[in-house]
Amino acid sequence: MSISFDAAAKQFHLCNGNFSYIIRILENGSIGQVYAGAALRKNSAYPLLDPIPFPGFSNNDKTFTRFEYPANGNGDFRRPAFVVRFTEGAAVPEPCYKSHRIYAGKPGQPGLPSTYTEKDDEAATLELELLDAASGLRIILFYTIFAQYNCLARHVRFVNDGNKKITLENAMSLSLDLPDSRWNLITLTGAWAREFDIGDAPLRTGFQGIQSSRGISGAQTNPALILRRPSATENEGEALGASLIYSGNFIADVEVDQWDIARLRIGINPETFSWELAEGAVFDTPEAVLAWSGNGLNGLSQVFHELFRNRLARGPWREAERPVLLNNWEGTYFNFTEKKILEMAASARNLGAELFVLDDGWFGKRDDDHSSLGDWFPHKGKLPEGVAGLAQKVTALGIKFGLWIEPEMVNPDSDLFRAHPDWAIHIPQRPRTEQRNQYVLDMGRPEIVEHLFKVLSVILESAPISYIKWDMNRYITEPYSVALPPPRQGEFFHRYVLGVYDLYARLTGAFPEILFESCASGGARFDPGILGFAPQGWLSDDTDAVERLHIQEGASLIYPLSSMGAHVSAIPNHQTGRLTPLAFRAMVSFFGCLGYELDPTKFSAKEQEAVKKQIAFYKAHRRTFQYGNFYRLLSPLPGRSVINGPYPLNGRFAAWMTVSEDGKEAIVGVYKILSNPNQRPFRLKLAGLKNDADYQVTVWEEGGYSAEDKNLNCGNRGGDELMQAGLLLECTVHHSPKNGDFFSELFLLRKQGA
Ligand code: DGJ
Repeated sequence: MSISFDAAAKQFHLCNGNFSYIIRILENGSIGQVYAGAALRKNSAYPLLDPIPFPGFSNNDKTFTRFEYPANGNGDFRRPAFVVRFTEGAAVPEPCYKSHRIYAGKPGQPGLPSTYTEKDDEAATLELELLDAASGLRIILFYTIFAQYNCLARHVRFVNDGNKKITLENAMSLSLDLPDSRWNLITLTGAWAREFDIGDAPLRTGFQGIQSSRGISGAQTNPALILRRPSATENEGEALGASLIYSGNFIADVEVDQWDIARLRIGINPETFSWELAEGAVFDTPEAVLAWSGNGLNGLSQVFHELFRNRLARGPWREAERPVLLNNWEGTYFNFTEKKILEMAASARNLGAELFVLDDGWFGKRDDDHSSLGDWFPHKGKLPEGVAGLAQKVTALGIKFGLWIEPEMVNPDSDLFRAHPDWAIHIPQRPRTEQRNQYVLDMGRPEIVEHLFKVLSVILESAPISYIKWDMNRYITEPYSVALPPPRQGEFFHRYVLGVYDLYARLTGAFPEILFESCASGGARFDPGILGFAPQGWLSDDTDAVERLHIQEGASLIYPLSSMGAHVSAIPNHQTGRLTPLAFRAMVSFFGCLGYELDPTKFSAKEQEAVKKQIAFYKAHRRTFQYGNFYRLLSPLPGRSVINGPYPLNGRFAAWMTVSEDGKEAIVGVYKILSNPNQRPFRLKLAGLKNDADYQVTVWEEGGYSAEDKNLNCGNRGGDELMQAGLLLECTVHHSPKNGDFFSELFLLRKQGA
């Protein structure tokens, strides 16, 4: 991995052997984008890459049409990477190259989560300093290239070295002008309980993209976008992805211009943002990651997975095996007593669970969702000996104890709101919108963060708490801070996010042994920003296993399995009313951080035995499930182009695979969603194996399997055969009627020899 500067050509080449990123200082001092893609040899000039000199780019450079961090108003009429307003009202900066620094390692991002290095030789960084001479505005573009991951981390720093205030009205974290638009744009969109829908459509001239203005990243849009070549599949072809390490309002878009150049941008949503830069002030954008793959979408996902797992997640839980938990939410909702919780915890322990999580309803006077958010002291009616008493009794049973909190919220019916009505976000003299009967605290105010840190620390210090589920159950309306002067209200949303990060940093810093799991009505704030503090998140309130096939597949485009909370819940499923077999529910939840979310005391003796076996199996293989290399083999989405599709089976079957870090073990999950008569047999090609190795293939007998599938596939099989021919499934016409809908099988592969 290296960053080289060719002084004669004024060209920077960032390369890690697989991935190259090339930019050039243009004649007039602005920065041109030359290349982002598969590694190129180092050359002074790349005549074939130079943009065709189209007319119409007056001030940037007449011979160049692709820019690295373009301003507005100077002849480039596309959407800019940044907008500043000077005191005199003008808004056309002319940032020109001033200096650069290249060094080993990666700098931190004060107040913001970011990727990092542990040793300097893991990455190299380029700081490229531009100056707008007339105003004294300095813009520093940061680029870090990692040796091991095919990606760049980018962010931008604005420094006002002039003698007048400057207002930042837009500050993208990343802008990239690609030379052509022959790409499909993939976005992850959705709604509550159906997050991470994969949208995949060819780029067209004009704008396309997603954004959030809800205060958090949102269930509706996830802060990422992927471009794949139309011919790229899961394992072949070129794909580029941008992911924003941020949890607030964002924009991620692509503009295809008149010359077929595709400008990709990702950053804070400028519609709800402005920032005042006083003389000497500094503003850092959040970090964005630009990942590249020559091995299709699975390859791209694996770049994100590895980077986020190894160099975004922090603390002792980064690589620790995550506990199998039992959460009481769907088992009891608000309706529980200490006695009930202890019965559930004992039963969970007997089944093999390692952590009991007490969800919403343990504090203040909370018996439903109308009161007490903000009153973080125990509900004495339910917990006579408080959280401490309960936690001690639970841990004495031999199972760890975890607790739910929703620190950013307050109910109007709470002691906190009665004492500090002005702490809730509102516009003075105007009505406040309630959602789920609650308001949001103004996390941009340091005294509120300080208060929350203190009250939550009291609880965490008082009891043996091993895990915290940090929820956030509404979006932000009436955005306004009574602590900010009117001209600076544009800072409100970003300050909110910085306040949330501050509280996360302080709590995770003070209680490093606690495993934090993020949640926002499920997956409404499942983003890399939060992953920088909480290494796992509750992916969705939808616990239906069929739905989860879609949700987990979508999330896996960017997020590693170690970050996904996945729970087995009771049937009929509370979100869909669907009845699926226990084994099917477990086999879906295995591909993530396994939990159970139900009342375990209601299991029949037979179910108890089955769950014991599930948990034991998961524990024996959880490293592979949580930290293995994940492959999407067959998509539950009709028509998705995956390794084994598009295929007539696409949409009625799904298949996933994970290969352990050392390559010695692999697990394949096959899910038949709906059965049909006279099923055609199919071959499920595997991935990630060694061509020249043999694998002992078995089925997980406790999970249910078809005898035909077992007979055909089990035994010693070559990695080459497994990948080129595939497992043989559905090979008898009697197969489907016998097994019906929602039938699943797990195949275990053990590599033979060294
Ligand atoms: C929403 C979460 O996603 C659920 O899991 C649960 O914790 C509820 N909030 C509790 O109010």
